[in-house]
Amino acid sequence: GNISLIGVPTDIGAGMLGARMGPEALRVAGLAQALTQLGLDVKDCGNLHGPANPWLQAVNGFRHLPQVVQWNQLLHEALYCELQARRLPIMLGGDHCLAIGSISAVARHCRDQGKKLRVLWFDAHADFNTATLTPSGNIHGMPVACLCGHGPQELIQIGGHVPALQPKQIRQIGIRSVDAGEKRLVHDMGIEVFDMRYIDEMGMRHAMELALALVDANTHLHVSLDVDFLDPAIAPGVGTTVRGGPTYREAQLCMEMIADTGRLASLDVVELNPALDVGNQTAELAVDLIESLFGKSTLMRSSAAKR
Ligand code: ARG
Ligand code: MN
Ligand code: MN
Ligand code: MN
Repeated sequence: GNISLIGVPTDIGAGMLGARMGPEALRVAGLAQALTQLGLDVKDCGNLHGPANPWLQAVNGFRHLPQVVQWNQLLHEALYCELQARRLPIMLGGDHCLAIGSISAVARHCRDQGKKLRVLWFDAHADFNTATLTPSGNIHGMPVACLCGHGPQELIQIGGHVPALQPKQIRQIGIRSVDAGEKRLVHDMGIEVFDMRYIDEMGMRHAMELALALVDANTHLHVSLDVDFLDPAIAPGVGTTVRGGPTYREAQLCMEMIADTGRLASLDVVELNPALDVGNQTAELAVDLIESLFGKSTLMRSSAAKR
């Protein structure tokens, strides 16, 4: 496999500064080396260069909308290029507003190639806010809504096709914080959500079996990993922690079950905020999880292990 790392050093969509340092923290934690160790060919494309964070108030329900558009346009083109070159892009965020650029590029690529797309959204949050529903104006709380066609024209049209994504292409896992109005919209759009209540009652294995159901040889699997998905006890380096998240073992199981499908084709790692981290432990944890996502396992992998 050929991997391309794309650093996107911005916190333009977040309510706190620091996610701009995420790409470097992941590099310092040894991401490229870990993937190389697994026998992958890794190209680090370096960082994209977009507008600075002016740290302004929200205007008409959006903070920094013009800058969010610029960063996402840059990312869309860069990531689409890597996909066209038949490489597997890993977007190193940056905050989660960047999923608009990355996933719109993935969706465009899938339309070109006649591939089915499945997006697995690992997050404490649904990220389905709109200008009228948002409590914060922070666009990192809005990417899923934008991808489904609910958002400002400049953002929803980035991939050239509105909506970029159908709700039925998405599965959300680990959700435990959804704003009042956002709840209604997630429900009305029919997004399939495996929230923490579901995971508590049914177990992570069952949730992931359903989230991966019908993934086949013609499926492009995209993983959008917001590190606030993880319990804050193991992942303190994020701006929007919510207690009661998955454990280390549960998170590893998610990654290993995805690796077993052999269909992973693109990845976002977002919301890592090194300014809030303890040492570099959250970045190091993310690297552990990414290793499993790319097939690192304790024993030889056999069909028995896949059950
Ligand atoms: N729902 C909250 C908001 O809209 C928090 C969103 C957090 N999103 C994230 N990608 N961390 O402001
Ligand atoms: Mn998120
Ligand atoms: Mn989140
Ligand atoms: Mn592992």
